[in-house]
Amino acid sequence: MRIIQTTQSLRTWRRRHDPLRTSIGLVPTMGALHAGHRSLIQRARRTCGTVVVSIFVNPLQFGPAEDYRRYPRDLSQDLACCREENVDLVFIPKLETLYPQDFQTTVAVRTLSRRWEGEYRPTHFEGVTTVVTKLLNLVRPAHAFFGQKDYQQCCVIRQLVQDLDLDTRVTLCPTIRDADGFALSSRNHYVTKSQRQRALALYQALSAGKAAIAGGMRRADLVEKNMAKVLNAGPGLTIDYLACCDARTLEPLSRLRGTVVLLGAIRIGGVRFIDNLIVRVPQ
Ligand code: PAJ
Repeated sequence: MRIIQTTQSLRTWRRRHDPLRTSIGLVPTMGALHAGHRSLIQRARRTCGTVVVSIFVNPLQFGPAEDYRRYPRDLSQDLACCREENVDLVFIPKLETLYPQDFQTTVAVRTLSRRWEGEYRPTHFEGVTTVVTKLLNLVRPAHAFFGQKDYQQCCVIRQLVQDLDLDTRVTLCPTIRDADGFALSSRNHYVTKSQRQRALALYQALSAGKAAIAGGMRRADLVEKNMAKVLNAGPGLTIDYLACCDARTLEPLSRLRGTVVLLGAIRIGGVRFIDNLIVRVPQ
């Protein structure tokens, strides 16, 4: 397994890599790797001849009051995970490598980035799309892999790739959950047992929404009401949003048909949790 830290070495590596002989798959991450990241790496391993994982805690996607400084970092464990998963190359750029002093360009996907998460984290997606554009330009992968856990992020990146004519196919991989349904996340490192217990209601609410649709409910407002009832907001739990949306545009729906995504975000104490379920509405 090769480890590269500078953009210059990465470019040299990439130039030597014959794109006709092997397809390159990229899994962008911020490290603190868990089974969710692993599943993306395994999917890349099955699809591509060469697997590249990037590990970079991207300051541009954290708001001023967010957890950039205390975001979990454990490089030796991350490298061990990449070795176990037979990764070919790990790109671990330093902050000043990706963002030198005179860095001044950002990439923004306007409409999709403003909705849902964008309302609560106004600069977040611009940070994501800027760093992902840089990574896609450096690695020039045939495939890039993203998790459904961050569904809106994946939609925003698909739009970015389409709008900027980037030659990469974006693959959405399923959310990996604990046995009780709680979605894995690097941020779970600093979630207390009782916060986790309470936050499980988000998955249960989304599941109740999915069950209601399977049972024939087609009015989004009623499904949303159903989900909110399960979440039972009150002292200690705030609902940021809970919505039935079109799975491609993320626009809120009133009548459900086609492929729908149930999106949810809640706050418990100072911690935010997001989750979603994709539902194919029967005709
Ligand atoms: P990070 O949170 O490290 O996630 C890296 C990738 O792993 C993302 O595509 C995310 O959706 C996926 N992932 C996280 N938890 C998952 C789970 N439980 N099941 C399946 N996939 C999961 O997302 C980012 O980093 C950053 O925004 C990044 C894209 C790297 C840009 O900085």
